[in-house]
Amino acid sequence: MTDKLKVGVIGLGFFGNRHARAYADHPAAELIAVCDSDPARAQIVAQATGARDFSDLHALLQLRDLDAVSICLPDRLHEEAAVAAAEAGKAILLEKPLAHDNYTARRIVAAVEKSGVRFMVGHILRFDPRYVHTFHAAAPERLGMPIHLRAERNGVRATASRLGSSSSILFYMGVHDIDAMQWIARSRINRVYAQKVERLGTGNEDALCAVVNFENGAIGTIDYSWAWPDGLMNGFRSSLEIVGTKSAVYLDCSDQGFYVVEQGGTSGGDTHLWPEINGRITGALADELDHFVKATLSGAPYVQHHREALDAIPVLDALAESAQTAVPVDVLR
Ligand SMILES: NC(=O)c1ccc[n+]([C@@H]2O[C@H](COP(=O)([O-])OP(=O)(O)OC[C@H]3O[C@@H](n4cnc5c(N)ncnc54)[C@H](O)[C@@H]3O)[C@@H](O)[C@H]2O)c1
Repeated sequence: MTDKLKVGVIGLGFFGNRHARAYADHPAAELIAVCDSDPARAQIVAQATGARDFSDLHALLQLRDLDAVSICLPDRLHEEAAVAAAEAGKAILLEKPLAHDNYTARRIVAAVEKSGVRFMVGHILRFDPRYVHTFHAAAPERLGMPIHLRAERNGVRATASRLGSSSSILFYMGVHDIDAMQWIARSRINRVYAQKVERLGTGNEDALCAVVNFENGAIGTIDYSWAWPDGLMNGFRSSLEIVGTKSAVYLDCSDQGFYVVEQGGTSGGDTHLWPEINGRITGALADELDHFVKATLSGAPYVQHHREALDAIPVLDALAESAQTAVPVDVLR
């Protein structure tokens, strides 16, 4: 590997586009290839960044000088690309969720571990200062034993309609909070009881609420929604709290600290996750990709081991099963 990480991006939709732009701007990365099954989309990104364009991910993976790939495909398509990248010997940043079910996730992990390639899952909250502060403030010596947690992630119905059957409220949004809750509580979820509502006809769940139990005895509640009218400020709101025997910690991301008031109403904008500032993608996504580039080049461990990312997936399976059957479900790992 040379002094710069030669990177490719597979999938150039909402998020892959942002990955490509962030790599193209990174001083220690060189974006050499981009791929989308829609050739026109790949050509537009290639022209803007100077990368080569591909419409077949396997052709991109044959590039000998390619060191690493970001895989930003729809959730149900992660396996083919991740396994092929592992077999081609490329370092991988795979967007969350690791996979859309535990069986598939375990096959991906088996492939990357067999090949020995570096592997990181894009759990962006590990790079969001609000969540990282909460993790440190919830250290056992400060928090004591966790008693209860609450996580909320609510988005607009336009997202549910845009994704249709390519995703679900659990894969797209829920995995963020399952990973964050297990990380911050320093304990895994082992039992869930969920219920859902589908009324808006978007092709996705409108809402899913659940009670979850942790191995350390704590209890938690989660509140997911894709039912908010599209006028919801910033398109989403999220919060998380943890209450322990000695202290409590909470964060609230519904306020981005920026408002535009017009005759038609008030709007805002992203100031934390991937805001474009002075022509650059910044925020937690830029920090995540910066970490991936630098740790891959140096050989340092990633901030999250992929086995910890894997731990979220069986919880999603259990939540989906419980919401379907309306009975509590044990998490099978
Ligand atoms: N970390 C975060 O906060 C965050 C935010 C958004 C999305 N994501 C994740 O990123 C991934 C992509 O989500 P998105 O919203 O960008 O989806 P998207 O539907 O906007 O984009 C997917 C892209 O993949 C392309 N594609 C589909 N099949 C392909 C194939 N076989 N080969 C090459 N290209 C193919 C599509 O043409 C499309 O351009 C998902 O896993 C999602 O969960 C993460």
